[in-house]
Amino acid sequence: MNAGIIGIGRFVPERVVTNVDLEKVMDTSDEWIRTRTGIEERRIAGDDVDTSDLAYKAAVKAMEDARVAPEDIDLILVATVTPDQPFPSVACMIQEKLGARKAAAMDVSAACAGFMYGMVTAKQFIETGSYKYVLIVGVEKLSKITDWEDRNTAVLFGDGAGAVVMGPVSDGKGVLSFELGADGSGGKYLYQEKNIVMNGREVFKFAVRQMGESSINVLEKAGLSKEDVDFLIPHQANIRIMEAARQRLELPVEKMSKTVHKYGNTSAASIPISIVEEVEAGKIKDGDLIVMVGFGGGLTWGAIAMRWGR
Ligand code: ACO
Repeated sequence: MNAGIIGIGRFVPERVVTNVDLEKVMDTSDEWIRTRTGIEERRIAGDDVDTSDLAYKAAVKAMEDARVAPEDIDLILVATVTPDQPFPSVACMIQEKLGARKAAAMDVSAACAGFMYGMVTAKQFIETGSYKYVLIVGVEKLSKITDWEDRNTAVLFGDGAGAVVMGPVSDGKGVLSFELGADGSGGKYLYQEKNIVMNGREVFKFAVRQMGESSINVLEKAGLSKEDVDFLIPHQANIRIMEAARQRLELPVEKMSKTVHKYGNTSAASIPISIVEEVEAGKIKDGDLIVMVGFGGGLTWGAIAMRWGR
């Protein structure tokens, strides 16, 4: 039995904060942010909205799209590093709100690679026949752990949520191969004290190498080559890192998802938000081979090669 994506949904807060808005409150410039990161604006949630609210809204849409009722969900996995509180998990909070009474629920902590970790975990349960429908949400309210005095990090991040329902799909469709990895020795380059602390240059070097390598590795594991790829969905951290992965796969620009200019780095939410936007734009179609690849604090990384469709 193959496991694939059978429903998608996203939610981003309404409030747009542009680079020009940030110029007014810190020593930065629209020009610096655009050229170094590709980011033009990001969404920031209000004080009265927490991570579980964003997650719930994306989850409802994904379940409607999948035409799966809440009581049919077997497992809820929420990838996040900004839960409302350490426990109960965001997964438990939305389980109650959704009315997904029979679902087991837990959060997955692998920073920006969290959504890849969630999808790969879901695949195991579905392919062994243990569970049929798994809801996976990538969600962050990074604005609550952003140091708005630190221009090195404050310009990079945004809030948002993306969700998918995974379930059994027909032969040849769904997840074809995956790679997950971690290197705890790199934890010192990206972590949370009160707020996010980052050594941008070290993370950048790691990400450029890892995004390309993991993309190639999942293709090899699936017995496929670069020429077979229809669409690349890289974690939306920085356009220069994303470009390195695209060039490694020798793909034209139009075959790579780019949402970083609108939302900044939304960590675990960036890949599922991109999936929704590209499917809605008609850029990902039934039967397409897509490669998703992410990296994040931990350090962690993950990639999936998937044939799109039910
Ligand atoms: N505005 C203006 N100047 C700035 C800003 C800013 N917002 N931020 C930094 N600068 C300055 C620096 O102070 C530095 O000045 P100096 O040379 O006088 O010291 C100069 O710009 C250059 O800084 P660099 O760090 O060399 O800039 P770089 O080109 O490496 O870009 C960046 C920095 C964008 C952070 C890059 O390193 C990067 O994208 N790294 C990866 C970050 C990332 O993806 N993190 C998320 C990981 S995912 C997760 O798990 C949350």
